[in-house]
Parts: sequence; C-alpha cells; structure tokens
Amino acid sequence: MPAARKPIISGNWKMHKNHFEAIQAVQKLHYRLDGDDHESVIVTVHPPFTDLRSVQTVIEADRMKIELGAQNCHWEDHGAYTGEVSPSMLAKLDVSYVIVGHSERRQLFAETDESVNLKVKAVQAAGMVPIMCCGETLEQREDGEAESWVEGQIVAGLSGLGGAEVASLVVAYEPIWAIGTGRTATSEDAQAMCGHIRGVVRGAFGEDAAAQVRIQYGGSVKPGNIAELMSQADIDGALVGGASLEPDEFAAIVQYRNH
Ligand code: PGA
Repeated sequence: MPAARKPIISGNWKMHKNHFEAIQAVQKLHYRLDGDDHESVIVTVHPPFTDLRSVQTVIEADRMKIELGAQNCHWEDHGAYTGEVSPSMLAKLDVSYVIVGHSERRQLFAETDESVNLKVKAVQAAGMVPIMCCGETLEQREDGEAESWVEGQIVAGLSGLGGAEVASLVVAYEPIWAIGTGRTATSEDAQAMCGHIRGVVRGAFGEDAAAQVRIQYGGSVKPGNIAELMSQADIDGALVGGASLEPDEFAAIVQYRNH
C-alpha cells in the first residue's frame, strides 16, 4: 500500500449506546490506544446523532486523536425535512467522516444510488469525508453478479465528482451477507472485490484517484481476522460494526499490526 494511503479503521455503532455510554466507550478506547497507533492508523467512531455533541466535547477536552464520525445525513443544508440532520450541522460538531449509503440504509430506509450520490457531494461540500458503502447480496454473489453490481454502485454513487474529490474519499466494501452474521469474506474474495473497485475508479477517474482513494472492507471484522485482511494490497482499512461496540475489541482491531 503506498504511504499516501494511511489505513483507516472506523467503528460504526449503529443504533447502540446513549450519550453516557458513548462517552465511556470513547474514553476507554482512548486509554487503550497510544501515539504509535494513531501515527499508523486513522481511527474514527460513528455514534448515533444524539451522542455526537457529548463525544465531541470529550474528544476535545482530552485532546484525543480519535476522529468523530456520523452514520448518515441529508443532502440539503436546511429546510422542511422533518427528522433529518444536515451536513453543515455535523460539520459544526467537528464531525469529519460521514458514512453514506450503508446497506442497512439502502435496504431498510429505501436509499438509492441517486440519494447516495447527493449525500456524497453534500458531505464533501461541508468539508467532511464521505465513507461511501457498497456491496452485494448473497444471491447476487451466487449468481455471479457481485462485481457488476458493485461497479454500478460505485459509478452511480460517485457520478459527477472530479478525480481529486474521489481521491480524498473512502469507499467501504461490505458484502451484505457478511454484515453482523459472523461470516467474513475470505481475504482473497475481499481483496478481489477491493481491487476491482480500485480498477473501476481508475477507469472512471484516473490513476491518481485510484492510487489515493481509500478502500475499507466491512462485514464481521474481528481482532482475529483483521491482520490478514489488512495485508491485502487493495484493503486500506475496515468498517467495523459489532466489534467496535466493545472498546477492548475495537482497540485490538486498530492494533492489528501487533498480532
Ligand atoms: P459488522 O457490521 O462488523 O457487525 O458485521 C459492519 C457494518 O455494518 O458496517
């Protein structure tokens, strides 16, 4: 992996932890990580919206090197969108990374490639980094359609962006059948798809974008499988769900170089 692509490991807390629990978790994580860890890996945590202000305050007060992330946002800056949160509101809370188009949002909340594309652009316009998710179902994989499906999600989700914009963002490849199931893609399968994604980016946005875009793998990442995943040429990090809820486990994932 070129030095330009610093590994990035992100904890997606989904709808877990109230703000008291979130403060405790980020403090514990901070104590488990040292300067070397932060030197080698960007660590982001993505608590629910209601926790963001509390976690931001703790990160700033203790000068933690953990980056604050969100799990979703709307694409408009303000307006009559009951229940939504805008990119500029997140940026004001010092959020720096926003997950966009997670498969749970696509499957349970009807997000489309079009809305994902609008959100990617809005997150970048607000000065934050999108983590754009893609991934196939088990049926699509068994039917041999995984690569073309993911390619379609990448091309549509990044439509209208320039090479420099694509270079600066993060793509998370998460096969849906591996999320929360304990079933991880083999590192060879994960590498094959992440290599394919980089190739798609190369074809659409050029060599520099392909060399710089960071690609995470997600789906049942654990302390026991992270090192092998991270040793793959096109895997630059991980998007971690269940195992990020427990600070000891998440810290062990961040410290994959030690196992
Ligand atoms: P998991 O979730 O690690 O619990 O499989 C990953 C994700 O949904 O981002």
